This record gives sequence, structure tokens and C-alpha cells, in this order.
Amino acid sequence: MSADLSSPPPSGAKPRSHFNNWITAIGAVLAVGALFSFALLTWMDLTGSHKNPYLGILTYLVAPGFLIAGIGIMLFGAWAQRRWAIKHAATMPDKWRLDFTNVAQRRMLVLFGTCGVGFLLLSAFGSYQTYHYAESTQFCGQVCHSAMNPEFTTYQRGAHARVDCVQCHVGSGATAFIQAKLNGTRQLISFTLDNYRRPIPTPVHNLRPARETCEKCHWPEKFHGNIDLTFDHYLSKKNNDAYGIRLLLHVNAGRPGSPIGGIHWHVSPDSAVEYYAADEKRQDIVWMRVTNKKDGSNRVYRNQEFKGEPPAGLVRQMDCIDCHNRPAHVFPTANDAVEKAMALGTLSSKLPNIKRTAVQAMIQKEIVTTGEAPGKIAEFLRGKYKDAADLPGAIAEVQKIYATTLFPERKADWRVYPNNIGHKDWPGCFRCHDDKHQTEQGEKVRASDCNSCHTIMAQGKGPELATLSGAGLEFKHPDGAYDVSLTCADCHNGGIQGK
Ligand code: HEC
Ligand code: HEC
Ligand code: HEC
Ligand code: HEC
Ligand code: HEC
Ligand code: HEC
Repeated sequence: MSADLSSPPPSGAKPRSHFNNWITAIGAVLAVGALFSFALLTWMDLTGSHKNPYLGILTYLVAPGFLIAGIGIMLFGAWAQRRWAIKHAATMPDKWRLDFTNVAQRRMLVLFGTCGVGFLLLSAFGSYQTYHYAESTQFCGQVCHSAMNPEFTTYQRGAHARVDCVQCHVGSGATAFIQAKLNGTRQLISFTLDNYRRPIPTPVHNLRPARETCEKCHWPEKFHGNIDLTFDHYLSKKNNDAYGIRLLLHVNAGRPGSPIGGIHWHVSPDSAVEYYAADEKRQDIVWMRVTNKKDGSNRVYRNQEFKGEPPAGLVRQMDCIDCHNRPAHVFPTANDAVEKAMALGTLSSKLPNIKRTAVQAMIQKEIVTTGEAPGKIAEFLRGKYKDAADLPGAIAEVQKIYATTLFPERKADWRVYPNNIGHKDWPGCFRCHDDKHQTEQGEKVRASDCNSCHTIMAQGKGPELATLSGAGLEFKHPDGAYDVSLTCADCHNGGIQGK
């Protein structure tokens, strides 16, 4: 007999649908669960205050993947059912058929329904949990452990340790959103394939503009006044002489409410500073233009070597990140990290010349991976101090400093991540304030007036540091006079200076 499906079944009921089978039913539950999760995730994604790129993978790749798989299973069930019907219609009982009059099948159906509802609830709960997890700092900083460890470690001790990674790294708005989605997916793939770049290159070009990140919490008009900072240093001498410098930084000169002057003048609403850097890292600034937004007048400064006009599209308007490029991840120099431990007393200053020796132990070429650092550091220090009483403590401390300062696996440390806020170990402010950039009339952006950005209130040690000068002291270089045509960063590099 031919398998004529259009002929009514013997019972005389409506012809049975091919979708009426168990395989299709399972596919349907999967598809409904995925659809439900997708709707929930999309809703959370669109209403959430900040967007997470990794969540996008879940929402727009994983959930739809399950949906498609579910629909696929449904169609496969129908196809299989049809094949089966063609082959066996006359000879075999239809055991795949959902039949409510059959007691065994009814029981199965109850069980199936319960499991289906359970699955639905679980998938909703799972999506919800994953959503929060993907947003967390833990996910950004610890799951991609080897990739993000340097940033996570440095982040935890910064002023922004309670600000989620996504607050600065993922903007809001439709295009930022899609961009972040694509970018997050790409990052996760390159992390999985272990082919991301080491060090991760900076500047980060797809960081949202400061207006959308920093200015959610800070804003230029906010009055900061002067900020009092003390820098603790020690000299590379036998008894590690202390040398402190206390500066009053003129962040906002003037009084609250008056126009922004001083250091934050660069981001004042009344003016704009634009620049062109000849290098990828924005360290070699050759051209800049200052525009007075009130009357539209402007001045252009160039350094001696640069004669032409900057290429179109490469002029950047200065914002917070041009100075605060390390708001959350400061990679301290080896020098600074050691001096900080000495100032806190966790590294004993009693060991002769420990400042220099500790720095040398940390930057020795022999250390290639984090794993071998503790051994090499201990060996190096033992070689220098034999059996000094403070040695074991010093070894432990230098190993600890190393672990949070240098990250050889990612090739991440201060040597690849300059901090633009000052001018001692990197060019920083002196990229522009170097007496070398001039207008055609010969006006300069000056560096030589050491008390224009900050007042040197005190320098030296002990009682010298306790006597403050309001007018500002002339800088006394701790290592004696130096050639003033050099910039600080020509000699200082965060490692070992001088002989
Ligand atoms: C206060 C804002 C802020 C927060 C919070 C923040 N970052 Fe960053 N991050 C930045 C800025 C600004 C840069 C870009 C530096 C540059 O372009 O020179 C950056 C750069 C990076 C880089 C590129 C490599 C580097 O060191 O420059 C990585 C990776 C990174 N951040 C990861 C993270 C992770 C992981 C977290 C959370 C644990 C986080 N960030 C939290 C502002 C932030
Ligand atoms: C979600 C809010 C938030 C965002 C976004 C944010 N910050 Fe902050 N920022 C803070 C908080 C909170 C502090 C700590 C204030 C304190 O210590 O009193 C802080 C402190 C600072 C400080 C002082 C640092 C110090 O060592 O005392 C600087 C500079 C700063 N932020 C710059 C930035 C920059 C640049 C960005 C953009 C890349 C940014 N912030 C984005 C909340 C934020
Ligand atoms: C020309 C460089 C420069 C620019 C541009 C700049 N800052 Fe600063 N800012 C500084 C310096 C220098 C300090 C003093 C602190 C220091 O040296 O670490 C400072 C201090 C701060 C502080 C700390 C105030 C405190 O009380 O501790 C905050 C917050 C801050 N800046 C936010 C911003 C924000 C937000 C922007 C962008 C709208 C911005 N800055 C733009 C150089 C700059
Ligand atoms: C991209 C170049 C550039 C960088 C980087 C830069 N500046 Fe400036 N700065 C300028 C220019 C240009 C002027 C204005 C000169 C003029 O008056 O025409 C200026 C002016 C100033 C002024 C005088 C503001 C006033 O009240 O008139 C201070 C103070 C200052 N800068 C501090 C700093 C500090 C501190 C840093 C580093 C954290 C820094 N600048 C980094 C370009 C720069
Ligand atoms: C364009 C503004 C500007 C000028 C001009 C300037 N400084 Fe600074 N200087 C800064 C800033 C900003 C910091 C703070 C860096 C930080 O917060 O880490 C600083 C920090 C310092 C420090 C402490 C650094 C450390 O790590 O101990 C010394 C010392 C110093 N300046 C000396 C000088 C001398 C000497 C001159 C003159 C040749 C000078 N500065 C000119 C902006 C300036
Ligand atoms: C010709 C090279 C040279 C120049 C230029 C130079 N320094 Fe130094 N500086 C040294 C040497 C060498 C030492 C001694 C290092 C030591 O004792 O560990 C030193 C020591 C210091 C120290 C104390 C120790 C330390 O490691 O921090 C400070 C602070 C310092 N210099 C600041 C500056 C500043 C700020 C400038 C720019 C205004 C500058 N120096 C320019 C060579 C230089």
C-alpha cells in the first residue's frame, strides 16, 4: 500500500501533524527557553545603566544559538516523523505520537511539562546570574587572568578601585554599544586563542571620550584648588639619604567660581587645546593650537623641526586622558615602588645602598617569567648582603614589590606604559612645556619657570622639609647641578640613574 498521507487515518480524525512528536516537543521547549532568556537578557541589556560587551556575546550569540538549535530540532523531528510515517504508516503503531488517551504517555507528559517549566526557570535564573557576573570587576579582572592581571593588580590600589572597569571602558549610546559588543567578542576570541598582543597597546583608541566617562563623576568646573603632594625619595648612597620634595600643585588657580586657570585650564569650557603627535604613543608632540572659544581667535605653536601642517584627522583635542592617562592603572617605576616601601618602613633602610640594590634586583635581565622572579631576587640580594640581619625581610619585601610592579608574561610595566601626569620619569607635561614650541611671534609654552605649575614649598630632609615657603623655592637637584638643557626624563627613567 502506498503511504498516502492525505488519506484520513483509520480513526477518522484530522490528519496528524508532523510536528506532533516527542523530538519536536523537546526542540520546542529548548527554543522557548532560549527565546525567554534572549528577551530577558535584551531587556536587561537595554535598561541597564552601563553596558557590558561580554554580555553581548551571551545575549546576541549564545541565546540565539540555542533558539536556532531548538528550532532545528523541531524541524528535524517533523522531518523524521514524516519519513517514519511514509515508511511505516501501515505496518507499525505510531509510538512517537503524543496521545493524551494513553496513560503511560500522559504520565510522561506531566513529567515532561514539569521538566520544561524547571528548565525555563533555570535558564532565566542562569541568564540573570551570568548578566551580573559578566558586569563584575571580577570577570574583567580575574577571568581573563593572565591577560588583565597587570591592570587588575594596579587598579586595586588606585583611587578608582571601587569604580567598575566597564564604567571607564564601555561608553553609552547606540554606536558605542555596538562597537563594544564587537570589540568584546574579538577580545574574548583572541584571549581564547591566546594571540592577544603583549603588551596590550596604548593609547586605547576605542576608549570612550572623557566627556562620556570621567565627566560622569568629575567635571572641569569642579573646583579643586591647590593640591599638596609630598614625594619621598632616597639617594643611591651608602646610607640611603632621604630626600623629600613637597609641592603645591596649582590645579585650579583662583577662587571657587572664578574662571578655570592653572593646570585644569586645558579643559576649561572657554578654551580648547588641540595637538598633533608624530608618534603612536602620543609622546612626541610637534604641533598644537590653542583656541579661545569666546572670540574664536587662536595661536599655533610648533617645535623647531616641524614646519608643515598636521595630517588631516590626526589632530586631537586635549581632554582629561591626555594628562590622566593612568587614572586606574598606574604602573609605578621600580624606583618609586622601592622608595615607597622605604618610606613606609616595610623595606629596611638600614641595609647599605638598598635603594639601588633593590631596584637592580628587580630589573635584572635574568628574570623572564614571573615564576622565576622570587628565586632570582633572593639570589641577587644574598649575593650583595651575605648574612645581614635585615636580609630575609628585605628579600620577602622586594619579591612582593616585584609581583605588583613588573609583569613579564604580559610585558607590562612602566617602561611601556608612560604616565603623563608629571615630567620626571616620562616627558609628560614637558611634551609641550619645553621652551621649544613657539608661535611665529616667538611666544613659548614654558617649562623653565619651575613654580608656574607648582610651588616648591620644601625640599630636603628632616627640618628642611618642615619649613614651608609660600613664594616657592628654587629647585635644588639632590644629585647636584645638572645641564639644564636636558629634561628630567633624559636622565631619569624609573630604573637606575647615573653611574
Ligand atoms: C577610572 C577609569 C578606569 C577604570 C575604572 C578602569 N580603567 Fe582600564 N584604562 C583606563 C584608561 C584611561 C586607559 C588608557 C590608557 C591609555 O590609553 O594610555 C586604560 C587602559 C586599560 C588597558 C590597556 C593596557 C593599559 O594598561 O593601558 C587595559 C587592559 C585595561 N585598561 C583594563 C582594565 C580593567 C581589567 C579594569 C577593571 C579591573 C579597568 N581597566 C578599569 C581607565 C580605566
Ligand atoms: C564612577 C565614577 C567615576 C568615574 C567614571 C571616574 N572617576 Fe575619578 N574618581 C572617582 C572617585 C570615587 C574618586 C576618589 C575620590 C576620593 O578619593 O575622594 C576619584 C578620584 C580621581 C582622581 C584623584 C586621584 C587620586 O589619586 O586621588 C583623579 C585624578 C580622577 N579620579 C580622574 C578620573 C579620570 C581621568 C576619569 C576618566 C578616565 C575618572 N576619574 C573617572 C570616581 C570616578
Ligand atoms: C593638563 C593636564 C591635566 C588635564 C587636561 C586634566 N587634569 Fe586633572 N589634574 C592634573 C594634575 C597635574 C593634577 C594634580 C594631581 C597630581 O599631580 O597627581 C590633577 C588633579 C585632578 C583631580 C584630583 C583632585 C583632588 O582633589 O585630588 C581630579 C579629580 C582631576 N584632576 C580630574 C580631571 C578631569 C575629570 C579632567 C578632564 C575634565 C582633568 N582632570 C584634566 C592635570 C590635568
Ligand atoms: C598638548 C600640549 C600640552 C600638554 C601635554 C600640557 N600642556 Fe599645559 N599648556 C599648553 C598650552 C598650549 C598652554 C597655553 C600657553 C598659552 O598661554 O598660549 C598651556 C598652559 C598651561 C598652564 C597655564 C594656564 C593658565 O592659567 O593660563 C599651566 C599651569 C599648565 N599648562 C600646566 C600643565 C601641566 C601641569 C601639564 C602636565 C600634567 C601640562 N600643562 C601639559 C599645552 C600643554
Ligand atoms: C607644565 C607644568 C610644570 C612645570 C613647568 C614644572 N613642573 Fe614639576 N611637576 C609638574 C607636575 C604636574 C608634577 C606632579 C607629578 C605627579 O603628580 O606625579 C610635578 C612634579 C615635580 C617634582 C616631583 C617629582 C618626583 O617624582 O619627585 C619635582 C621635583 C619637580 N616637579 C620639579 C620641577 C622643576 C625643577 C621644574 C622646572 C625645571 C618643574 N618642575 C617645572 C608640573 C610642572
Ligand atoms: C643629567 C642627568 C639628570 C637630569 C637632567 C636630572 N636628574 Fe635628577 N638625578 C640624577 C641622578 C644621577 C640622581 C641620583 C640618583 C640616585 O641617587 O639614585 C638624581 C636624583 C634625583 C632625585 C632623587 C632620587 C630619585 O631617584 O628620585 C630627584 C627627585 C630628582 N633627581 C629630580 C629631578 C628632576 C625633577 C629633574 C628635572 C627638573 C632632574 N632630576 C633632572 C640625574 C639627573
